[in-house]
Amino acid sequence: MKSVSAAAALALIAPVQAGLRFPCSTLTIQRLDPVVQPGSMPAAHVHHIVGGNAFNATMTGDIGEKGTCTTCQMSEDFSNYWTAHLYFKHPTNGSYHRVPVLPVQPLLGGSQGASGGLTVYYTQFDLNKDNLKSQAIKAFQPGFRMTVGSPTRSSKPQTGLRYQCLQGQNRGAEMSDFPTKPCTGGIFTTHHFPACWDGKNLDSPDHQSHMYNTITSDGFVSAAKCPASHPVRMPQVTYETVWDTSKFNSLWPSGTPNPYVWSFEGTSGFGTHADYMFGWKGDSLQRAMDKSECFYDGCGSIKKQTMAVANQCSIKETVKEVTDGWLTELPGMGKAMV
Ligand SMILES: *[C@@H]1O[C@H](CO)[C@@H](O)[C@H](O)[C@H]1NC(C)=O
Ligand SMILES: *[C@@H]1O[C@H](CO)[C@@H](O)[C@H](O)[C@H]1NC(C)=O
Repeated sequence: MKSVSAAAALALIAPVQAGLRFPCSTLTIQRLDPVVQPGSMPAAHVHHIVGGNAFNATMTGDIGEKGTCTTCQMSEDFSNYWTAHLYFKHPTNGSYHRVPVLPVQPLLGGSQGASGGLTVYYTQFDLNKDNLKSQAIKAFQPGFRMTVGSPTRSSKPQTGLRYQCLQGQNRGAEMSDFPTKPCTGGIFTTHHFPACWDGKNLDSPDHQSHMYNTITSDGFVSAAKCPASHPVRMPQVTYETVWDTSKFNSLWPSGTPNPYVWSFEGTSGFGTHADYMFGWKGDSLQRAMDKSECFYDGCGSIKKQTMAVANQCSIKETVKEVTDGWLTELPGMGKAMV
């Protein structure tokens, strides 16, 4: 089942037991990256970050014990979730403009008052069932972090990292590179993380090799058994983000190449990537993952907050630079590098 919309349509009629899905509002948009460039203020490129307010340039220890508020609907989740930020590059004068973020309108349920942000999934098997009877899920440990994708990737699609061109709310086909024509409803990006852990390392030098991906096709598909090298089945984490391209559509002359770039510029959409920093309080994520028939934002004893409360969570800007408005270069990317 490749397309999210087909899977969700099935979910409407089938009993669904898929795991958690919830919105998180935008926390901050800054050049910070505590996973890949800990301590760097600024980091190399601009990120769109959601989640707990313990977020800063250096993050160690148990984030779940450090946060005091979160922009996520699940109020015990102080994790941080981020991706590069999308920019529009003016086709004739070369200036850049940050693309605003819209809350995801899920195919089931609304965006519940989120402000920008992204939608997070922790699925146990696929979009429709948890399969817990044959496979337990182990929650991440304090200090756990990982990335998926790479800003230096310039060719070759990566399974699970996708773009969709929204026409209104119609999501259309999943693509491995940027859309080639204007999208009236925005650009929808999906980042699926791998779900098999080596059982030992909370991180690795490349932030990826402690994890292993057994999924070979796109969408929320059932995962094959984890290999002996990475035997522990973790929740499958996914982000969905909607980039509001509406105000740039008229600036994209018909028939000309895609004018969108990630905050590191890159040469194509293949450099799309995402970072995850675990920060659920205590055993709250484990309790959610142990629960069967725990569809989307349900999950029994997991505490929630309204998005009106979540939207009040914020952090101070520590990298003081302009990242929005028309810019002659991307923050951190000197002209020589472009
Ligand atoms: C990050 O936050 C911790 C407190 O949680 C603080 O001790 C540390 O100095 C901060 N680091 C940076 C680089 O801001
Ligand atoms: C490029 O075009 C935009 C939109 O028309 C404009 O606002 C911006 O100032 C221009 N940049 C330069 C360097 O002329």
